[in-house]
Amino acid sequence: MCGIVGYIGPRDATPIILGGLKRLEYRGYDSAGVAVLQEDSIEVRREAGKLANLTESVQKSPLSGQVGIGHTRWATHGAPSQQNAHPHLGQTGKVVVVHNGIVENFLELRDELSAEGVDFKSETDSETIVHLVEHYMASGLDLIEAARATFGHLEGANVVVVMAVDEPDKIVTARLGNAGGVVIGYGDDNEMYAASDIPAILEHTRRVVFLESGQMATITRSGAAYETVDGSKLEISPQTIAWDPVAAEKGEYRHFMEKEIHEQVRALTDTLAGRVDFDEGRIRLPQLNLTEELAQRIQKIYIVACGTAAYAGMVGKYLIESIARIPVEIDIASEFRYRDPIVDENTVVLAISQSGETADTLAAMEEGRSKGAILWSIVNAIGSQAMRVADGFISMQTGPEIGVASTKAFTAPIVDLYMLAILLAELRGELDTAKRRQMVADLRLVPDLVGQVIERESDIEKIAHALKDIKGCLYLGRGINMPIAYEGALKLKEISYIHAEGYPAGEMKHGPIALIDEEMPVICLAPRDPWHEKMISQIQQAKARGGPVVAVATDGDELVADMADHVLWIPETPWMLSPVITVIPLQILAYHIASLRGLDVDQPRNLAKSVTVE
Ligand code: AGP
Repeated sequence: MCGIVGYIGPRDATPIILGGLKRLEYRGYDSAGVAVLQEDSIEVRREAGKLANLTESVQKSPLSGQVGIGHTRWATHGAPSQQNAHPHLGQTGKVVVVHNGIVENFLELRDELSAEGVDFKSETDSETIVHLVEHYMASGLDLIEAARATFGHLEGANVVVVMAVDEPDKIVTARLGNAGGVVIGYGDDNEMYAASDIPAILEHTRRVVFLESGQMATITRSGAAYETVDGSKLEISPQTIAWDPVAAEKGEYRHFMEKEIHEQVRALTDTLAGRVDFDEGRIRLPQLNLTEELAQRIQKIYIVACGTAAYAGMVGKYLIESIARIPVEIDIASEFRYRDPIVDENTVVLAISQSGETADTLAAMEEGRSKGAILWSIVNAIGSQAMRVADGFISMQTGPEIGVASTKAFTAPIVDLYMLAILLAELRGELDTAKRRQMVADLRLVPDLVGQVIERESDIEKIAHALKDIKGCLYLGRGINMPIAYEGALKLKEISYIHAEGYPAGEMKHGPIALIDEEMPVICLAPRDPWHEKMISQIQQAKARGGPVVAVATDGDELVADMADHVLWIPETPWMLSPVITVIPLQILAYHIASLRGLDVDQPRNLAKSVTVE
């Protein structure tokens, strides 16, 4: 999770920015930097590693000034290093930028700018932004118009903060899509703040504005001017937020679950962070300690997990078997630990766990260890048991997940499993270069595709109103989206207390179809994937028995739209990554049904965020 802090006012910006970045530390990062405007230059300090390294660098070589921006970075493009750390200076040394998100068209922009003579200093996509702003300022535009022109060039979900020596009275920022938030803070005595999250500025102010996607702000000492990126002026007044850090952490959202659903664009950007070489079309998972020798001798993978994590593992089975051709078995952890599984030194036991402390999952890992398996884990909580005891791990890198109902810690491990499958396939010679490059390139689409579905929330909320009083619900899926039927049902039942059941759609005729009548809505996952035709007939079978059908369908699929009572639309998506997208409307649907029923969405009855007991 990248962190951003900006300040403009009468005080020295440096300690305010460093203090703000410290409050964002828990979100995880791998480098940090700060930039401060001087009379006719910009001072920048950047360090790889922890914030302490930056603080030490600033102590050794102080910088001060009244206008500054700072950043903590999860590397997405380019390794974690000083040269790739933000803030990024342009060639003139008079414009500087910090950035969250992925500039999806950065390769094209980089080529265009290089052809104009720009000499790139870093491997990042972010650096293209500052050179574009400089390019437009050199053509005569002022900072605001140069920034606006630049924002119009960026594809994907991005947050940008930019400032320039020649216009020291302002900081310009924009939120483009859902790559995380931008909070504008109103201080006293002619000072203003910008941040990616409230905790960074909570000690200075409780009066804030949250930028929406497609909005930009020009921040001066006396306040901020708001407009849409395409130039329509906006009148936005600051709101006063709750003082307590927990409420403040929710920011503009009513519940952590709502925030975490929306956070998935940034969380998925971050789970890709430092692992995808888009130029070479390669995956790097250094913490897994996976050698070519080990990859080639693996004969079986057991994925062990509980609840939502197990359903992510079920998707992983399809991905690893399809891409790397290694047999995969999914085991609910509480069963695996007691069934004397067949394991040897060429078997991997791969645990998936958000908390990394789930008792059954840890016990399953222990069972694998006792039988000589190679232990891997995919974990969100840094430093947790499941991360420590494994021979190798993949960190989900989504930042803390507070809501009991898991959302970003479901979609992130699916992306991690997709990356793992590609890496295993490459090391085992199962994937030709062209196919591998295409599969890696598809990853770049994921954050923005998720953002597109999240932006349809109001349509999904309308369907939640239609379903909020149902007594039961069936979720049906096939193939790689069959696990999403289980996950969608779990989301609904655990926060709305409505009985909901996920089922392989092909199983309906073997019994469950008896349940279907006008009182039993059926949610059918029918995206354009290899099982689409099968799901069409499933929808027909449900309709024939009078069941109301809610279909998850790909934009433009009129065949499904004509048959279903409601449609949860998703954009066209590479089918192997479609579960990351098809689950989003089901998360949002469950969230709104539970909210409409007035239930405690973040702390549902009888449930805990981490089940550390048997
Ligand atoms: C999911 O929404 C639930 N909170 C629950 O099923 C959870 O996924 C399960 O308890 C596993 O937790 P873990 O990922 O922390 O191991």
